[in-house]
Amino acid sequence: MPSPVFYSTPSVRLIVGSAASAEADVLVVPIFSGDDAAIDDLPLALAEAVASLRDGRELKAEPYETHWVRADGMQSRRVLLIGAGPEGALTPDLARRLGTAAALVARARGCGRVAFLTRGALQGEAIVRTLAEGLTLAAFHVDAYKTRDRKLSDLAELAVVVSEGGADTLADAVATGATMGEATNVARSFAHEPPNVLTPRVMAERVQALFAGTRVSVEVLEQPQLESLNMGLLLGVAQGSAEPPRLIVLTYTPEHPAGPVLGLVGKAVTFDTGGISIKPADNMDRMKYDMCGGAAVVGAFHALARMGAPSTVIGVVPAVENMPSGTAFRPGDILTGASGLTVEITNTDAEGRLILGDALWYAQQLGATHLVDIATLTGACAVALGRVASGLFAAPDRWRDVLQDAGARGGDMLWPLPMTDDYKELLKSDIADMVNAPGTRYGGAISAALFLKAFTGDTPWAHLDIAGTAWADEPKPWQPKGPTGVAVRTLVEVARRAGEWV
Ligand code: BES
Ligand code: MN
Ligand code: ZN
Repeated sequence: MPSPVFYSTPSVRLIVGSAASAEADVLVVPIFSGDDAAIDDLPLALAEAVASLRDGRELKAEPYETHWVRADGMQSRRVLLIGAGPEGALTPDLARRLGTAAALVARARGCGRVAFLTRGALQGEAIVRTLAEGLTLAAFHVDAYKTRDRKLSDLAELAVVVSEGGADTLADAVATGATMGEATNVARSFAHEPPNVLTPRVMAERVQALFAGTRVSVEVLEQPQLESLNMGLLLGVAQGSAEPPRLIVLTYTPEHPAGPVLGLVGKAVTFDTGGISIKPADNMDRMKYDMCGGAAVVGAFHALARMGAPSTVIGVVPAVENMPSGTAFRPGDILTGASGLTVEITNTDAEGRLILGDALWYAQQLGATHLVDIATLTGACAVALGRVASGLFAAPDRWRDVLQDAGARGGDMLWPLPMTDDYKELLKSDIADMVNAPGTRYGGAISAALFLKAFTGDTPWAHLDIAGTAWADEPKPWQPKGPTGVAVRTLVEVARRAGEWV
């Protein structure tokens, strides 16, 4: 089966010029709410159209509200008005969402060339960047496996239109936004693949193909190498599956390597049945998304290959399938990881922490001085924080702040949860160093984080639990149902600012 294409790669550029001069299938014109919001900067015919919609109470200009209007006297074929809310409340995050929402509406109308006009508070470097990001995010396809009834056309050309001034930095901002958006789409495309297609083996092959000929090198460790490294936790989870495990190792090396080495570790369980502690049938199909942490790491490297980073970045992605079978690991087993720690298995569905334990250890062996892991780790985290914020656990506090700042810049909300020693008793085992799953569901996201902490030593380490945020169940104007690519941009932001966090 030929692999479907999950996102198009439109050109994304800056247009310096007037609203009337921008050539496109559709010019998107943001409108701020409030009857006194200025419209005198718009071409006359357009300003009149907006005024008459406003007078007729048809246009409130709330965020994501759209209206098609005529494009008399303009170079673009159509004009799409999009509500932007009160001008004073505009943020780069809202601009990103407006960009995606507008481009998705354009795709539904068959428009492949979309230009977004900046005006008023929707100007400046940060906004131009997130607008380009948002427009690019709209190029992701959720329907690539549909052979008929596809509703959205492909995007070919995207543009952000600015009136004048600062064109060089703004062009850079557009390029950065486009790269960030595409990196997010890369992660989403891995996540979107069904588990029969994206096995650990195929995931590793695709990562190798993705980075061939770039500054990112990829090494894939197979079963015999994992055995010589004594990765008993990773191998224990993998042993129930007919699909062999892989450990995907990515390295970005700057021209003059110096300073800290960032280690990004992403959980990639290509399908999580729960193993012998099997999950209920309802929604089990969702567990193809259990590789979204690994996909986020891969997406982040895609951006690093394009834009570079000041220091070395290592990615470690343990890829396995968690299956019940006659060869599967069982509750009651005791596994020994590469670090030497022994783990009493109390629930084979707590598999993510096991493979991450070995992967975190390995990232340090490879020289990582600072660690971030990303994982769809616990249902408990989704219960605690819902679908908005990802759980953030980190030590020391300074490293937590670095992550939270990076998250804010990237548009990923990260929310700190506690991780004090009082919770440690949840992981006590009578017969091994730790259990993998406590006897209670209370505090489940925290005990999972504390389990990982046992593998990080004194290395600054942060853990992002994206179980609630990696997949959208309900469509939003800016996010179709499906993979979100959460954490990709956060990881890139951390890597690009290495100078600021040492
Ligand atoms: N991949 C799941 C996490 C998950 C579960 C995400 C449900 C979204 C919805 C993980 O491997 C898992 O199964 N975790 C268990 C841990 C428990 C057995 C200690 C969980 O969260 O129930
Ligand atoms: Mn599980
Ligand atoms: Zn899992």
